[in-house]
Amino acid sequence: MDELEEALAMAMTTAVSNTRVILRRYMTWFPSEDEMEVTSYISDFVQGEVSTNNVVMKVMSSGHPDFKAGNLCLGDDWMARSSVQTFPLTEVTRTKSRRRSGGRSMAAATLSNKRVILKRYVTGLLSEDDMEVVTVEAPPLDVPTGSKGVVVKNLYVSCDPYMRNRMTRHELPSYIPDFVPGEVLENFGVMKVISSGHLDFKAGDLVWGMTGWEEYTVINNPESLFKINHPELPLSYYTGILGMPGLTAYAGFFEVPKPKKGEYVFISGASGAVGQVVGQLAKITGCYVVGSAGSDEKVNLLKSKFGFDDAFNYKKEQDLEAALRRCFPEGIDIYYENVGGKMLDAVLPNMRLGGRIVACGMISQYNLEQPEGVRNLYYIVTKRLRMEGFHVFDYYDRYYRFEEEMAGYLKEGKVSYVEDVVEGLDAAPAALIRLFTGCSVGKQLVAVARDSSDPDHT
Ligand SMILES: NC(=O)c1ccc[n+]([C@@H]2O[C@H](COP(=O)([O-])OP(=O)(O)OC[C@H]3O[C@@H](n4cnc5c(N)ncnc54)[C@H](OP(=O)(O)O)[C@@H]3O)[C@@H](O)[C@H]2O)c1
Repeated sequence: MDELEEALAMAMTTAVSNTRVILRRYMTWFPSEDEMEVTSYISDFVQGEVSTNNVVMKVMSSGHPDFKAGNLCLGDDWMARSSVQTFPLTEVTRTKSRRRSGGRSMAAATLSNKRVILKRYVTGLLSEDDMEVVTVEAPPLDVPTGSKGVVVKNLYVSCDPYMRNRMTRHELPSYIPDFVPGEVLENFGVMKVISSGHLDFKAGDLVWGMTGWEEYTVINNPESLFKINHPELPLSYYTGILGMPGLTAYAGFFEVPKPKKGEYVFISGASGAVGQVVGQLAKITGCYVVGSAGSDEKVNLLKSKFGFDDAFNYKKEQDLEAALRRCFPEGIDIYYENVGGKMLDAVLPNMRLGGRIVACGMISQYNLEQPEGVRNLYYIVTKRLRMEGFHVFDYYDRYYRFEEEMAGYLKEGKVSYVEDVVEGLDAAPAALIRLFTGCSVGKQLVAVARDSSDPDHT
């Protein structure tokens, strides 16, 4: 039995009186022992009120399905008084005693950290069995002395198609490291800084960037994180329209094909995180915009919510080339490529002379062991097409300019946004798979923890 359990056991056997720590008087700076008093009665609110902070408690009895008698919990109260029921209690997996610099021994709880790990390298279609949700010990929430890192609480994590590529074991190094079986998945997320050793960040800051698919993450290179400058907008937007996919749409559309008013623009995967934003930016530019998507519901969304001029359900079309001819009798100037495969083949003969293709992604290929071939490449020659690969990582220096512009569009109602949010890390593996089955509608993401400062928190 460790020190804490011993103390708890003793408290339980003698437990009739109720020993508590109260504030004796208001403090001027750091608390000294003299400013607190151990007492066995309760006094008025604030001065004399029971002190509140993170403490470890043992549940004596429970009417809540998540707790049973004997559970060790961490909560926001130094006493199991009635109001504690309203505090979120986090189950403690292990407890230790820790000695503070003042020489006093304090019982400190080790938080648990739910995370999603890769179970094995993936071949073929990603399945839930390829991932596992596990609970491990959380990292210390205070950054170690001398560290320039930050510890964050993850609020939202994003599901992005490129994660599938990182689950394949590559013989030759890929553009980004493969995930490692047994280790936590990482991707873009929205986080709250809990503690920081870095001058540019402080506890409470809201940031977005690369993090773990888990509750708490230590980020050793916080220079890679972006500050959230518009917390008045839903924080989840920073996994999508105000985050990496939004910048992908913005830079991929404006920097690569350099669109002009009146041009004909086709977007595949048009209702997804990137596609919905590209389409609306193209409309703002004054282009004629058509999108393809995999269900009638998504086609309706494109036309009614995002203002596309036309859209079609590619799963219902017998002949994709003919569908594109129908939508673009005069041909396509700009193709924003999100899916690849058969769609790319159908687009090539429909391009106009001097057309531009932004090769942003090819999601139709990500779960294939053998990528599909493209038959119509010769049109690149005859139509003098330019097909250009694009990577958002090359455009992060434009981020804050983009953030201002996009936040403005959102506030003015010039741009709409649809997201598909699942609750909790337990639902994350299934959410990621939804990207590849076409079940996601709009930007797919996972709410890990809701923050009360979030205008959209529920
Ligand atoms: N280059 C970069 O820097 C960069 C950055 C971000 C994203 N990307 C790429 O951009 C593309 C769009 O990303 P996103 O985040 O917006 O994803 P997304 O469109 O939200 O992805 C999910 C959607 O993709 C569609 N899809 C899935 N499998 C498909 C298939 N076999 N054929 C056709 N469509 C399929 C499904 O919609 P339907 O119902 O319409 O089929 C699904 O709902 C992806 O290829 C991604 O890899 C590139």
